[in-house]
Amino acid sequence: MKDIKTVAVVGTGTIGAGWAAFFLSRGYCVRAYDPSPQSLASLRGSIAKAWPILRELDTSVPELIPDILLAGSLAEALEGADFVQESGPESEELKIKLFSEMDAAADPSTIIASSSSSLLVSRLQSACAHPERCLVGHPFNPPYLVPLVEIVAGPLTAPWAIETAESFYRAAGKQPLILAKEITGYIANRLQNAVFKEAMHLVQVGAATIHDIDAAVRYGPGLRWAFMGPFLTYALGGGQGGMKRYFEIFAEELETSWKDLGEPTITDDLRDTVIAQAEAFFKQRTIQDVAERRDLALLDVVRAAAKADLTGG
Ligand SMILES: NC(=O)c1ccc[n+]([C@@H]2O[C@H](COP(=O)([O-])OP(=O)(O)OC[C@H]3O[C@@H](n4cnc5c(N)ncnc54)[C@H](O)[C@@H]3O)[C@@H](O)[C@H]2O)c1
Repeated sequence: MKDIKTVAVVGTGTIGAGWAAFFLSRGYCVRAYDPSPQSLASLRGSIAKAWPILRELDTSVPELIPDILLAGSLAEALEGADFVQESGPESEELKIKLFSEMDAAADPSTIIASSSSSLLVSRLQSACAHPERCLVGHPFNPPYLVPLVEIVAGPLTAPWAIETAESFYRAAGKQPLILAKEITGYIANRLQNAVFKEAMHLVQVGAATIHDIDAAVRYGPGLRWAFMGPFLTYALGGGQGGMKRYFEIFAEELETSWKDLGEPTITDDLRDTVIAQAEAFFKQRTIQDVAERRDLALLDVVRAAAKADLTGG
């Protein structure tokens, strides 16, 4: 298995900058490229903002931020890279072209992972001469704090590439999860989308404000979601009889309530309502301030969730 020392970060927006900070903090040599000079120029500042949190998370992270190479071209960024983390815009057309360019520039043994949050690898790898090293490594925002990385392979991805990506992310301190088959939106975003769809429906029918919904998640199921998923939650909901009893009691009710879930459409009205309510919250605070507070809160949650052990072994 390839010894990964140098990582190329392609696309340095919100996610690429987060990945760059994370990889640097884990001791990798990082080469970054973005076609937007502004995006590349703001990278060192974004890394500096994330650095105190990374040091809080792991005391072995040095005080001095290691230097990062800001490449003048895609080819320069990929030179000598053992692993590429692509975080360009979420457009299938753009990513297919970008993948073929990265494929032409990178050594065939170099893994090319996309941060895409929904696209199929079979499409991303479709114009590559070496599709076997292409996959999705889907992070969660911010990538330097949320452990999960969903690894998705396409039909042409080789087993060695999946194994290398898994062991690379795990060695770096992430929690990789390999999908059993490729599906758009993968696992976690499909679940988030299902919740968000119903949240939009609740606003559309006037049952709740966006702040009511955020509070319902925050003070209710969100607390459990930090350390257990829906299946374990409902297995415990069945009492001593577990999952089997849960279905005995709730199967009928579940099907009825699924039929009752909404099919919202994002009308101008709904969009304006949601934006106005969100902007009311940000009247007294900036996005940057809230993002920094989110990082501090997430740090506590990540630490607490890492300690949670429901297996008893
Ligand atoms: N924002 C999130 O919460 C989130 C979470 C997980 C995954 N993702 C995924 O990460 C990727 C990046 O999302 P983001 O939120 O950082 O977007 P962003 O708009 O903040 O950043 C995208 C960056 O890509 C650059 N770019 C444009 N064309 C490019 C090209 N041809 N090659 C390389 N870079 C190019 C842009 O200049 C920009 O800096 C997307 O695939 C997105 O789906 C986003």
